[in-house]
Amino acid sequence: MKRIVVLTGAGISAESGISTFRDASGLWRNYRFEELATPEAWDRNPELVMEFYNMRRKQLFEVEPNAAHYALVELEEKYDVHIITQNVDDLHERAGSTNVLHLHGELKKARSTVAPNLVYELDRWELKIGDKCEKGSQLRPHIVWFGEAVPMIGPAAEISSTADIFIIIGTSLVVYPAAGLTDYAKPDIPKFYIDPGASYAGGISNLTIIQKKAGEGVPEIVNSLMKR
Ligand code: OAD
Repeated sequence: MKRIVVLTGAGISAESGISTFRDASGLWRNYRFEELATPEAWDRNPELVMEFYNMRRKQLFEVEPNAAHYALVELEEKYDVHIITQNVDDLHERAGSTNVLHLHGELKKARSTVAPNLVYELDRWELKIGDKCEKGSQLRPHIVWFGEAVPMIGPAAEISSTADIFIIIGTSLVVYPAAGLTDYAKPDIPKFYIDPGASYAGGISNLTIIQKKAGEGVPEIVNSLMKR
């Protein structure tokens, strides 16, 4: 079975109603990430950080996967599919994808502030100051903030290096180390980049750019891969 590695970003969930970060109405156009998504922000004002992620978690309970998430599930009938997502939503899992690696954490999980390996599933949208881990310490959102290490980058690089086909969907490719994963893919394998704002020309070998929304472009590429 050929292996397809898919790197996804906020754009794949845009048509589900989740904001991206850097588009005109993106989150980092309306909020300062320094005040919401860094360890320093958490130290300064944990209530504000908590509220920001609570808002986003609440929204996640109200949205559904879209045609692009579902199309990737279909690929599993013929290929060994590995999704590496920068997204903290769970829309790939809810659509039915089997192998999903989250590079930047997961919105529906919380973790201990003293023992990072203590991670808890949240079945509600609200995490509060005073919610504690089993060791008695405050829980924080299970998100990789700016300035923090990306623990899953090693396994993601390893998977990328074994791809027979590499698909990039809905990401501005500006945040590292995630954006550097394409460097691990073998130069000669086919690579596709589906994003209406994609303008990236250099650097990635054997790349086909598809300037379409994920809801249209992903089902199309999946159809053509299923016919190969
Ligand atoms: P960005 O907001 O930087 O980029 C979103 C991309 O999605 C852009 O290239 C858009 O052109 C594209 N896009 C918009 N609508 C789309 C659609 N309907 N279909 C397909 N593509 C569409 O988001 P990311 O690249 O995911 O990190 O950002 C990377 C990281 O920066 C995020 O994981 C987040 C952020 O800070 C953390 O929160 C740690």
